[in-house]
Amino acid sequence: MKSTSHKYILADSFKEFNISSSSVNLVVTSPPYPMVEMWDESFGSNDKSIIAHINKADGQHAFDKMHQLLDKTWKEVYRILKPGGFLCINIGDSTRNLGGRFRIYHNHSRINNICHSIGFDTLPSIIWRKPTNAPNKFMGSGMLPAGAYVTLEHEYILIMRKGEKRVFTKDEKENRSRSAIFWEERNSWFSDQWTDVRGSRQKLTIDSLRTRSAAFPIEIPQRLIQMYSAYNDTVLDPFSGTGTTSLAAMTAGRNSISLDNDSKLLSSTLKFPTKRPTKHALNDHILKRLNQHMNYVKEKDMLFFRYRNMPMGIPVKTLQEKLLTLFPIKSIYRKDDIVTVNYRNLKSSEVRESMFGKKSVPDE
Ligand SMILES: C[S@@+](CC[C@H](N)C(=O)[O-])C[C@H]1O[C@@H](n2cnc3c(N)ncnc32)[C@H](O)[C@@H]1O
Repeated sequence: MKSTSHKYILADSFKEFNISSSSVNLVVTSPPYPMVEMWDESFGSNDKSIIAHINKADGQHAFDKMHQLLDKTWKEVYRILKPGGFLCINIGDSTRNLGGRFRIYHNHSRINNICHSIGFDTLPSIIWRKPTNAPNKFMGSGMLPAGAYVTLEHEYILIMRKGEKRVFTKDEKENRSRSAIFWEERNSWFSDQWTDVRGSRQKLTIDSLRTRSAAFPIEIPQRLIQMYSAYNDTVLDPFSGTGTTSLAAMTAGRNSISLDNDSKLLSSTLKFPTKRPTKHALNDHILKRLNQHMNYVKEKDMLFFRYRNMPMGIPVKTLQEKLLTLFPIKSIYRKDDIVTVNYRNLKSSEVRESMFGKKSVPDE
């Protein structure tokens, strides 16, 4: 693994993408959520009837029109994905009070249905339940029947594939093996509920169209990228916002393309990958996988681990983890709207530190 490249493009993702057909391995994204107030303007500026429907308290028509805009995105995603490529969408349902009537709008099922009719094979999805202890999470009439509502504390990660399973050629097999995930990562990531990922900080400090970013935490795209692509693949996020998917792609050794229609957000996103601390912050994420694995090893009986991982010389559970390789970032630089990331091999001192519990990651 030598280098990856990351493009940031100002684009309206409700329209055709300027990306070749069958050229992208994976799409990971979180779109503006229909019927969540902060996105009314994003949808309404593309279709004026949406705001008129909301003003008339006609939530159902507003919801339909908003999804008709997103439908165009999913059609484009289908076109640009390679056969066997995956689409992973983080989406929440919306609750809203319009004209004195409170109800839920099921974004997740609307998107699953349209993607199925576009041609995707819809697969089991993940419920992302964000840990929260907020006492004000309950809505409605408190302890008195019958006017209270069940809390909405989960979002979805919808998963779909374009066509049949991806076939790896003989030449691609070693790269696939190096892109393997640890046994315990498989057990946790491929479960249908993620309860250990906290939401991200939402306040935007840069000059943008909004004050809240609606960013997802980097663990979400990081896991999905490692679950559904291999080193050197290309990942697209058509609603890239603060660029979390591209940062996750950098930590995972994948190329990325980020689209967003907020020029201020996009230009600030383009700046931050080159800031000095970014390399160290991203390397912390890469080495966290190794540290977590070594903590898992320490908890178990050594007989549990039947194999030795060759590049790192550490115990692993299965033969499939034998070639699993981690590549920390050596340098990041930017030219115009492209960021290039160079990688290095893991140092033996980093492996030793993960074994013997020293936390700090040495600088080069
Ligand atoms: C839910 S946020 C995504 C946040 C992102 N995952 C992150 O971690 O920062 C949705 C993003 O879609 C962008 N957006 C809204 N309408 C768009 C459109 N028509 N084309 C492209 N981007 C759009 C917004 O600017 C916003 O950044």
